[in-house]
Amino acid sequence: MTILVFDSGVGGLSVLREARMLIPDQSFVYVGDDAGFPYGEWDEEALTIRITGLFDTLIERFNPHLAIIACNTASTMIMPALRQRFSIPFVGIVPAIKPASERTASGMISVLATPGTVKRRYTLELIERYASDVKVNLVGATKLARLAEEHLQGEAIDTDVLHDEISPCFVEENGKRTDIITLGCTHYPFLVNEMRKLAPWPVDWLDPAEAVARQALRELHRVQGHTVSGYGSAEATQHDVAIMTSVSPSISTERLLSGLGLTLETLAFRETTLYVQSAQ
Ligand code: DGL
Repeated sequence: MTILVFDSGVGGLSVLREARMLIPDQSFVYVGDDAGFPYGEWDEEALTIRITGLFDTLIERFNPHLAIIACNTASTMIMPALRQRFSIPFVGIVPAIKPASERTASGMISVLATPGTVKRRYTLELIERYASDVKVNLVGATKLARLAEEHLQGEAIDTDVLHDEISPCFVEENGKRTDIITLGCTHYPFLVNEMRKLAPWPVDWLDPAEAVARQALRELHRVQGHTVSGYGSAEATQHDVAIMTSVSPSISTERLLSGLGLTLETLAFRETTLYVQSAQ
């Protein structure tokens, strides 16, 4: 079966990693819309048109059995439009507000996400529904996703910028402190080791990627009656594919993807040529 994993860039690889572990022996198509990156500051309507248009091409080309929208900025907005337009199941990723509010001991959590995700109605509804008795601090980070892209492509992390971006997450009030930070962008898990070093006090950093992979597996069982026997390998399976929508992905992006067992192909998308990566 074919599972499509979609993000604005390479951040969704943090979800692909979990999905490959949990759902082995399937074909994965990874799509990074790096020509549209970053999604964090896009207008909602324009972004919806862009992503649904991309999916017209992707679904026709790859005919996936299921798609994972491995991008909080997109998932908090696009799921109804995708489900209405296409018949395959879609699984999204959203900030782990419910688990954070269940686990917090201090009653103070922070949601670290893109500016788009923190202002979405969907995010605010999650807070109303699951975290009404918890103090939720929404932190919209403007530079973190790009920092993660650069880091994944081998560049050194600017720790001053990283420090400034995460500082607002740490709140101290009436002798209590933030004790959980939910990573509301799939790029951020790639920075979490550095974030830990810069944190003024220890907190739990919640990444919902594994929960999303589990949800994808449940959906596959539901629609395909597919049985999966336990964990597999995080390595590429034989026909994994990745597409970056920029006409010329950087050499470092090519290296990063080929390090995961992926190589270039092309795909026509409107008037643009997309470069597709497929495993050897
Ligand atoms: N990885 C995306 C997310 O989970 C966003 C990065 C971007 O701003 O494009 O929200």
